[in-house]
Amino acid sequence: MRFAIAVLLSALVCSSLVWAEAHAVPNDLEQDFAEQLALAEAALAVRSVPKFYNSERRALEKRTNPSGTYVPTTVKCPTNSSGHVSTLVRTASSLSSEEKEYVKARRNVTNEYLPSYLNRLNMSDFDAESFLEGTDLTIGIAFSGGGYRAMLSGGGFLSAFDDRTVNATDDGHIGGLLQSATYITGLSGGSWLVGSFAINGFPTVQAMQGDENVWDVSNSIINPGGWEFWDTTEYWDYMLDAADDKRDAGYNISLTDYWGIGLSTQLFNYTDGGPAITWSDIRNQTLFKNHSMPYPIVVADGRPYNTDIVSTNSTVFEFSTYEFGSWDPSAYAFVRTEYIGSTLHNGVPVNSSACVQGFDNAGFIIGTSATLFNQFILQLNSSGVTGVIYDAAQDILSNIGDENDDISPFEPNPFYGFNDDISYMYNETILNLVDGGEDYQNIPLVPLIQPSRGVDVIFAVDNSADTDAYWPAGWSLTASYDRQFGALGNGTKFPAVPDRNTFVGNNLTARPTWFGCDASNITGTNGGTTVPLIVYLANHPVSYFSNTSTFQLSYETDEVEGMITNGYNVATQGNGTLDDTWAACVGCAIIHREVERRNATHTAQCQACLSKYCWDGTVLSQNASEATEDPDIEISSDNTGEAGILSWKSAQWSIVALAIAVAAAM
Ligand SMILES: *[C@@H]1O[C@H](CO)[C@@H](O)[C@H](O)[C@H]1NC(C)=O
Ligand SMILES: *[C@@H]1O[C@H](CO)[C@@H](O)[C@H](O)[C@H]1NC(C)=O
Ligand SMILES: *[C@@H]1O[C@H](CO)[C@@H](O)[C@H](O)[C@H]1NC(C)=O
Ligand SMILES: *[C@@H]1O[C@H](CO)[C@@H](O)[C@H](O)[C@H]1NC(C)=O
Ligand SMILES: *[C@@H]1O[C@H](CO)[C@@H](O)[C@H](O)[C@H]1NC(C)=O
Ligand SMILES: *[C@@H]1O[C@H](CO)[C@@H](O)[C@H](O)[C@H]1NC(C)=O
Ligand SMILES: *[C@@H]1O[C@H](CO)[C@@H](O)[C@H](O)[C@H]1NC(C)=O
Ligand SMILES: *[C@@H]1O[C@H](CO)[C@@H](O)[C@H](O)[C@H]1NC(C)=O
Ligand SMILES: *[C@@H]1O[C@H](CO)[C@@H](O)[C@H](O)[C@H]1NC(C)=O
Ligand SMILES: *[C@@H]1O[C@H](CO)[C@@H](O)[C@H](O)[C@H]1NC(C)=O
Ligand SMILES: *[C@@H]1O[C@H](CO)[C@@H](O)[C@H](O)[C@H]1NC(C)=O
Ligand SMILES: *[C@@H]1O[C@H](CO)[C@@H](O)[C@H](O)[C@H]1NC(C)=O
Repeated sequence: MRFAIAVLLSALVCSSLVWAEAHAVPNDLEQDFAEQLALAEAALAVRSVPKFYNSERRALEKRTNPSGTYVPTTVKCPTNSSGHVSTLVRTASSLSSEEKEYVKARRNVTNEYLPSYLNRLNMSDFDAESFLEGTDLTIGIAFSGGGYRAMLSGGGFLSAFDDRTVNATDDGHIGGLLQSATYITGLSGGSWLVGSFAINGFPTVQAMQGDENVWDVSNSIINPGGWEFWDTTEYWDYMLDAADDKRDAGYNISLTDYWGIGLSTQLFNYTDGGPAITWSDIRNQTLFKNHSMPYPIVVADGRPYNTDIVSTNSTVFEFSTYEFGSWDPSAYAFVRTEYIGSTLHNGVPVNSSACVQGFDNAGFIIGTSATLFNQFILQLNSSGVTGVIYDAAQDILSNIGDENDDISPFEPNPFYGFNDDISYMYNETILNLVDGGEDYQNIPLVPLIQPSRGVDVIFAVDNSADTDAYWPAGWSLTASYDRQFGALGNGTKFPAVPDRNTFVGNNLTARPTWFGCDASNITGTNGGTTVPLIVYLANHPVSYFSNTSTFQLSYETDEVEGMITNGYNVATQGNGTLDDTWAACVGCAIIHREVERRNATHTAQCQACLSKYCWDGTVLSQNASEATEDPDIEISSDNTGEAGILSWKSAQWSIVALAIAVAAAM
């Protein structure tokens, strides 16, 4: 039966691609199924050696899930030094001791590195070494959501920030920001970027791009075998089995399990995608252990069953390799990441010999940050798809939506019975999490504006699709700005930003824009200098039309190249061709808060950067007609994108196929 479902699925997906390419909509689904099924069977008969995803990947050595599989394992609970079972949840009043230690050791590395980095950026009349003497600067980098667009375009930014990328330390480039940073955060598609980076041991983006076993997005996650029916069939069989095994072990499973296993096989460089690799395992990566990399965090939102959330009432959760939880006063608690899945009451294991490890499967975590399924439903109406296909898709997807299946359920809720006076989850046995972008804060800034992290500057990479043409328009920043005034702000401060119309109308998304340049204009400790400066970097076509649909699930090799190179070009302003002072300005942004704290005067060069890149408070008049965005490529290139109907249709079909497969499997 299982096998038949998988065969049918491959057939369906393949046929959908044929249909989409022919731009023809079939009227008789059943007849086509039968034909495609026959084709699939014929193909199976002649193919004997399955490829699957095992070749040339790493074998799994380091892992905290003792089962060695996708299934979480029951272990003895940890005990403290006096032999009592340890409390696994704590109040969110400070950083964890592990993070404190990491940051302290990381400072050793970044303090050593920063002077040479600032010098390389061509800052003039500035003595980096003496300026930085005895000073700790904390840099954060944040990658927004936006599906594969966000992963690939964000990957371009990441490679521009990384001094290991070929040519990234040349004049006009900015490689080294990554090596100088303390934190790196990702959300949804941005969590696929940060997650694949961290889980694969922090390789360069070029290495992931060039490795056919790692960022292989040439076929969609739904049919990774492409025309090879057997590969796709085997893949689905594997995926359904892994999730089944987890269910048989007594865990409820959800769409996020399938989604997460799929993401793992596509993004993680381990045999079968590393089913036993967990978010906790990041701590054992060599480049993490020697503090060569910023501390990775991904974000998801809490959403009580059957409710909607907005930025002012969403509880924002973060996952680091050590802890999972929220700073928000609606939760204000963290649990040990490696013991998520254990049954706890008031933070204490209910059965001291039955804690759980391996629930924090790495694919499951980045799948949780990106529960995009409900957005597929919302998009269907405007997709231009009609007739039989629309009805079928609508039917399946709305059933899933009705059951709140876009939710990633964390069961048992680790925060059950904890923080009785404040936690909205106190009485909940299940903690429901959804895509980190559902509250419109599509750039994961909440972890970076926490006063206890003391971040000086955030490089905020925005690959959101705020406009109809999938360009960002600053919505995420307006949501993060609003949040500080709500009940969940809890002492966080955020610089002033303009309304959405001004972002587009005044070209604030067309070039880098800095917010919060004047600390004294922000109410905060020490004249606002504890609030990070935000260097906003929005997706924009410098060399390529990088506004692909959020639902485009597969990219050709040249599209991948176009997206990544464009991200690189936005980050470096065309390697300085759009502004030859940009690299130096990046240096000025890094030191800006410290200069303010010292009441010092910036160099003439940095003052010029401030007048060029700081938002000056101007807004469009209320009566201005709504700004639209229709940007042109800034640096010509013959490599322009063709995201459009074709890929959208195949994406639609992939969704239908996934929904059918999951429905059949449940
Ligand atoms: C991971 O590192 C920790 C120390 O941080 C160590 O105790 C643990 O055994 C390691 N796990 C594996 C699977 O190597
Ligand atoms: C160990 O845990 C027990 C019970 O929670 C607590 O009373 C004790 O103080 C803890 N000991 C240490 C050394 O933390
Ligand atoms: C930082 O470096 C100093 C000197 O090399 C060393 O003594 C110290 O232990 C390091 N601190 C951490 C937290 O790694
Ligand atoms: C690096 O720069 C050299 C010299 O400008 C150029 O020939 C080469 O193509 C560049 N490599 C990459 C990967 O961009
Ligand atoms: C993936 O793993 C293989 C085998 O260890 C290795 O050769 C390759 O460089 C890795 N790829 C990346 C992108 O790290
Ligand atoms: C959040 O606010 C929205 C809009 O005000 C409301 O519809 C929703 O019910 C609220 N959700 C929660 C969890 O409070
Ligand atoms: C939890 O449920 C109990 C019993 O229904 C109720 O008395 C209590 O107020 C609830 N606590 C919270 C924090 O919701
Ligand atoms: C944040 O919320 C917690 C829990 O309500 C509270 O104890 C703490 O004082 C708040 N922090 C600030 C800075 O308001
Ligand atoms: C925005 O950019 C466009 C195109 O470069 C230009 O015509 C327009 O004047 C700019 N608007 C502002 C307010 O700078
Ligand atoms: C900037 O440099 C990168 C990496 O070397 C290269 O791929 C890209 O084409 C360059 N951009 C421009 C505008 O020359
Ligand atoms: C900077 O100036 C402000 C206001 O004039 C003052 O309160 C603060 O102490 C000064 N800081 C330093 C480091 O001189
Ligand atoms: C300064 O603060 C005010 C009040 O928050 C705000 O309206 C204004 O836009 C801010 N100016 C700048 C340049 O950020």
